Amino acid sequence: MFKQLNILDEKDKTLRKVSKEVSLPLNKEDKDTIKQIIKQLTYSQIPEYEKKYNLRPGMGLAFPQLGQLKRIIVIVHEYEEGKFNNYVVVNPKIISHSEEVIALETGEGCLSVNRDVEGHVPRYARATITGYDENGEKIKLRVREELAVAFQHEIDHLNGILFFDRIDKNHPFFGENEIRLI
Ligand code: NI
Repeated sequence: MFKQLNILDEKDKTLRKVSKEVSLPLNKEDKDTIKQIIKQLTYSQIPEYEKKYNLRPGMGLAFPQLGQLKRIIVIVHEYEEGKFNNYVVVNPKIISHSEEVIALETGEGCLSVNRDVEGHVPRYARATITGYDENGEKIKLRVREELAVAFQHEIDHLNGILFFDRIDKNHPFFGENEIRLI
């Protein structure tokens, strides 16, 4: 049986706190939580399961969204229809990034934000991320486009930042000549 995660809502102040670095390797409980997150994020992107379990589609989740102030992020990226890559990064850091900035044309969403928030969220088009896998092995990833947006969104959660914090209230929408919209 599939048990849904209890995801905190934006009103919860825990989401505004800075999460702590995690010691490695992860304990069994954290590894089990990661498995559960991967399952739910994957199901939420498969229409049949999304309906069956009444899931909100999402490609990423950070531990603080479960009320655990640990620097762990999980991303399930559908790189091709029906094909997914899972990314689990413990203590992630953006060590370098492009100058170029992009934004998702339709704006961002978040499993902790149960409403539509309109506006473009500027993100680096490309980034290099370092961190550790669940077993404590050092990892280095180069991400771009949608996946780069997802990583920046999730890493923001570890620092108490929600995506709408980055929308300029006086200028919520960019034109194609200001920013590359994807
Ligand atoms: Ni989010």
